[in-house]
Amino acid sequence: MIRETIVTTVGADGAVHIAPFGITEEETGPVIAPFRPSVTLDNLEATGAAVINLTDDVRIFAGCLTGRRDWPTRPATVVTGRVLEGALAHREVRVAAREDDPARPRFRLTVVHEETHAPFRGFNRAQAAVVEAAILVSRLHMLAPEKIESEIAYLAIAVEKTAGPREREAWGWLMERVADYKAGHAKAAG
Ligand SMILES: Cc1cc2nc3c(=O)[nH]c(=O)nc-3n(C[C@H](O)[C@H](O)[C@H](O)COP(=O)(O)O)c2cc1C
Repeated sequence: MIRETIVTTVGADGAVHIAPFGITEEETGPVIAPFRPSVTLDNLEATGAAVINLTDDVRIFAGCLTGRRDWPTRPATVVTGRVLEGALAHREVRVAAREDDPARPRFRLTVVHEETHAPFRGFNRAQAAVVEAAILVSRLHMLAPEKIESEIAYLAIAVEKTAGPREREAWGWLMERVADYKAGHAKAAG
């Protein structure tokens, strides 16, 4: 199973880095697989630690994909790292093993501490749609224009029907990015 999370890491220089990552739950524990190049990958190698944040604030997913990476954090409890203020729960992890790969190395992680901060409030279709749209935005260069159009038209239904203010704001940032991409594409073609 893969859970969509926000991973926070700290660089050798102490700089905090925030990025969405799908975390695979394996029998041995969580696994993260960053495509190269990746600041998260560099930080995992530098510190051997990370914080996996579970949040329903989808602005953080959309924000990280649209240049809004500055989300409030506080120090982690056990590892050298930071916890997102918007996290419903978090897990502090250390790198247990590393499987090298030229494109996408895998890090097997050991959970050394976990905390719950707020309850799960139930599924929301607009939140799921924003996460899907964030993944779409991270792959725009790999997708045909018709595919982008049809996926967005479908996801927009859930946003129109079920979004609250946070979901609408996140959706707006992603749609701006798609519009910029399409405008850039049209210019290059013309
Ligand atoms: C929901 C979601 C899941 C993602 N999962 C991954 C992942 O498993 N591996 C990856 O390399 N990038 C993933 N991405 C894209 C990264 O968040 C993005 O490329 C990020 O900037 C990673 O690079 P960085 O470590 O340099 O920030 C995901 C994006 C989203 C929106």
